Amino acid sequence: MLTQVIKLINYLPPEFTYETSHALIRSGIVNYRGYEFEMPVEVNGKSIKNPIGLGAGIDKDGFLAPWIARAGIGFITIGSITLKPRPGNPKPRIVKYPGLKAMVNAMGLPSRGFTDFVSRLPGILSKLRRLGAYVIISLAGFSIGEFMYMLNGLRGYDVDAVELNISSPTYRGSWVTDREYLGELLRSVEAFPGVLFVKLPLGVDIEFYRWVVNVAEKRGFGLTIANTLPIKEPGISVGYGGLSGYPIYPIVKSLIVKVRRWGFRNPIIGLGGVFHGRQVVDLLRNGADMVGVVTAFAYEGPFVFNRLFKEVLMGLSERL
Ligand SMILES: Cc1cc2nc3c(=O)[nH]c(=O)nc-3n(C[C@H](O)[C@H](O)[C@H](O)COP(=O)(O)O)c2cc1C
Repeated sequence: MLTQVIKLINYLPPEFTYETSHALIRSGIVNYRGYEFEMPVEVNGKSIKNPIGLGAGIDKDGFLAPWIARAGIGFITIGSITLKPRPGNPKPRIVKYPGLKAMVNAMGLPSRGFTDFVSRLPGILSKLRRLGAYVIISLAGFSIGEFMYMLNGLRGYDVDAVELNISSPTYRGSWVTDREYLGELLRSVEAFPGVLFVKLPLGVDIEFYRWVVNVAEKRGFGLTIANTLPIKEPGISVGYGGLSGYPIYPIVKSLIVKVRRWGFRNPIIGLGGVFHGRQVVDLLRNGADMVGVVTAFAYEGPFVFNRLFKEVLMGLSERL
């Protein structure tokens, strides 16, 4: 019944869907207990119960995570969180292409801000610990100072990893085109004592990838591959956005394969266009340690995870 409701919600205007599904999850109406799917993976010496989880962007402020993690996922990403509160871009900020299992978004990094988030963090973490999920906090900073302030503010909290979002279409120009400044950021964040992942952009020249992969390898950072692909979209208020979902899957897979061929040995979170269990297995076999979904979640809600667990189990047993 609830899955039918969620399918119907997808035919409503995207912003309405986004807000309605958030309200449904946050209210506890969509309170979905998933399988106990055991497929342990090890990331930076820590065992994670299974490699499937949620990427950044669904739970930007940490209000939904404890409800979503009940689906039995191995990891959950909260954020991106910005230092100051931000309303994001004016609406419309999402255009959906259900036939393509895709969407374009330019949310513009809306966030309640870091201070608000940190005040609620202990409560969020204690709930997530009980559910056994690996917790990743995604930070979006507009300068090195902003990133460092937030990283320092997370010291002492028991988060499993922090993801540095340097690749949001909202501001990625400043990080991705200014290699010197990005290099300085990656040098500065090395002082952070916890596990760090750098989230890579799509649609960048190969030299950038070679350089950033090399820096991440040297400094012991993991990689999240990848963020959305920037494109023009007249249906969005700012005229552009990031393409996510099924069409980006081949690009994401080939980037993961390349990065491993270049000798990158640190953890990789594969993220982009995953809708089926066979894609999860495919990314794991090609170098990812964990696999996340965002657009599939936006279309199906937390039910997507149980389907993926079943399909992964079937896919693995078929090959035995
Ligand atoms: C509505 C929406 C909001 C997003 N917000 C963020 C964000 O705040 N930070 C971030 O790093 N990535 C964000 N992303 C990118 C996703 O985390 C992911 O990298 C991308 O969508 C590819 O995965 P997918 O095809 O499974 O959606 C967002 C994506 C969507 C669709």
